[in-house]
Amino acid sequence: MILVLNWKMNPKTLKEAFSLLDATKKSILRKKITGIVAPPSVFLADIARKKGTLHVAAQSIHTEESGSHTGDVAAAQVSSVGADHVLIGHAERRALGETNEEVGKKVVAALASHLAPIICVGENARDGQGHYLETIRIQLEAALCDVSKTKAKHLVIAYEPVWAIGAAKPMSTHEMHEMTIYIRKFLFSKFGKTGMSMPILYGGSIDGTSARDMMHHGEVDGLLVGRASSDMSKMHELFDALK
Ligand code: 13P
Repeated sequence: MILVLNWKMNPKTLKEAFSLLDATKKSILRKKITGIVAPPSVFLADIARKKGTLHVAAQSIHTEESGSHTGDVAAAQVSSVGADHVLIGHAERRALGETNEEVGKKVVAALASHLAPIICVGENARDGQGHYLETIRIQLEAALCDVSKTKAKHLVIAYEPVWAIGAAKPMSTHEMHEMTIYIRKFLFSKFGKTGMSMPILYGGSIDGTSARDMMHHGEVDGLLVGRASSDMSKMHELFDALK
């Protein structure tokens, strides 16, 4: 199973980031989990240097290789400090204006610099008529439009319904199971056999009380965790639940 630990804009200091990394490394060692930690970009190089068996992801990259883009980081820079993954299209970046088209360009930029993209998709709200499925299809189509079958094996898809991020509880496992089937069918139609083995993750308010259930009944290959990944006691509860 894959566990992506999105620290978002936490913790406050590099010292605290190292403590969190150490605790995460110890917890991962005891479990059969592929752990990917996504620290804020300012900590990326230091965390990558001490990552041990963990993988390291940037939380975002720019579409361009270099240039006048104050405050941004490029895929090659992320790769050069030892990270091997990148979150692309996270709901919190889309809320700041990131478009489907930019997501597609970032996926291409990531792959060109040997970063494995973790592509985040998710609808803002649900409706009774299933229009949200169309939103997911459009997001996936745009993100994957320039990806070849050979490169597709490097991709990870993370479904994060916006309404379940930062909420009190995750989406139901039944709803996730349906979404896993929907995404899997899309991936198969686009990439054939490769699409069958691309990991599909769930993200949104996962913690120690919900992780196990979502893994087993949501039919997912892993989880993308926000709050419970950067709070030391919640992080321990999460790993205990995944024993
Ligand atoms: P929470 O787990 O805090 O709801 O965040 C989910 C998320 O956005 C992970 O990328």
